[in-house]
Amino acid sequence: MDVHVVDHPLAKARLSTMRDARTDSAAFRAALHELTVMLMYEATRQLEVRVERIHTPVARTDGYRLANSPLLVPVLRAGLGMADQAHKLIPEARMGFVGLARDERTLRPTPYMESLPEDLAGWPVLVLDPMLATGGSMEFTIRLLTERGATDVTAICALAAPEGLAHLERSGLPVRVVTASVDERLNDSGFIVPGLGDAGDRQYGAV
Ligand code: PRP
Repeated sequence: MDVHVVDHPLAKARLSTMRDARTDSAAFRAALHELTVMLMYEATRQLEVRVERIHTPVARTDGYRLANSPLLVPVLRAGLGMADQAHKLIPEARMGFVGLARDERTLRPTPYMESLPEDLAGWPVLVLDPMLATGGSMEFTIRLLTERGATDVTAICALAAPEGLAHLERSGLPVRVVTASVDERLNDSGFIVPGLGDAGDRQYGAV
């Protein structure tokens, strides 16, 4: 499985703001927005482009546009904080939604919402979720996508745990991961260490 770590000073700085327990919700959301732009920039590097001739004020030249605009899929709640920024970069993209809440005891994802196009064959899909912890939520989401024919799926996560990456690798699902950091481990409560806490709660408050 391809795992791409965006090792860049600006990404490190935004991620550090998100990690810092003193960062309030507004600053956390702002840092996630900015980090999303950087992760998206790397994650979309291999998208196919179509060439078309354009006129500058001076000459004719090749212009480029996306051949297939991807489907964006934020995983609610925490992925909502990445959705707007991703959409600004690819305004023509469609957006689907998956709602999952992780059971605090079993750590298994409980689905509560799903809104996805029926046929995803041939469409690149970008899944947005700040956290890849056990990998259960991402595996569940990717299965929903592959059941609809998706074969080109990229998971975009601020942070990933080695356990979650290993889980996805074992699943054999067609996914690559773009993240700003692979952290040390998961603790007994399923939190990423050092991590940043709960990305949903830090953006929107505990519910
Ligand atoms: C968090 C996070 C991921 C998931 C990661 O969401 O945003 O979706 O947990 O954990 P996993 O890799 O072990 O499945 P949570 O279920 O806490 O819901 P929230 O986004 O509504 O806060």
